Amino acid sequence: MTIQYHDHVLDAAALDQLFREARTYNGWLKKDVSDEQIEAIWELMKMAPTSANMQPVRIVWVKSAEAKAKLAALASEGNKAKIEAAPVTAIIGYDIDFHEELPWLFPHTDARSWFEGDEKGREQAAFRNGSLQGAYLILAARALGLDCGPMSGFDNAGVDKAFFADEPRHRSNFICSVGYGDPASIFGRSPRPDFGKFNTVI
Ligand SMILES: Cc1cc2nc3c(=O)[nH]c(=O)nc-3n(C[C@H](O)[C@H](O)[C@H](O)COP(=O)(O)O)c2cc1C
Repeated sequence: MTIQYHDHVLDAAALDQLFREARTYNGWLKKDVSDEQIEAIWELMKMAPTSANMQPVRIVWVKSAEAKAKLAALASEGNKAKIEAAPVTAIIGYDIDFHEELPWLFPHTDARSWFEGDEKGREQAAFRNGSLQGAYLILAARALGLDCGPMSGFDNAGVDKAFFADEPRHRSNFICSVGYGDPASIFGRSPRPDFGKFNTVI
């Protein structure tokens, strides 16, 4: 019998958990996120697609009080407490020299040569695919029963200097707190556009 995998729609509870009921959290319950949970997020998100399997995301999981204070100091006023109170905040960065890893990540062909000498193209590809991977991180965390609080209000250059000092080819994209969200910390849901507003089928 041929199994029609594409007919396997997730049940309503799963869709609620991933999308419909999931919210962006600003405050956090005092409940730890273990290193095993962080690794479990990676084990899921790494399976989602990137161009030529380039996997340009580079993540620093900021967990210690000292590291959180360092990150919070580089965040906008409104975001400082959201970092300090969270069990962990991921710095979602990307590697503009991701192509050096392509010989093993995409062994079917010489994809490294497509990017060699084209730093502008690499930067664009790394940002595009690294952003996708940041979104996959959010959905993987939600799938594992965790909540997220993504933020772009911080000093990117400062974060690069403070957290990617040993990796000068890595750039921060956005940051994302992960934990168990405090329901009291969310705003009313902002409107979402109907299909016809921003979609066209031709
Ligand atoms: C990339 C990104 C950057 C964001 N930056 C900030 C931020 O700096 N500070 C903040 O309070 N919220 C930030 N947000 C949160 C958004 O405002 C929030 O996810 C959006 O309004 C949807 O909220 P909801 O998931 O509760 O519906 C950011 C979200 C994303 C995805």
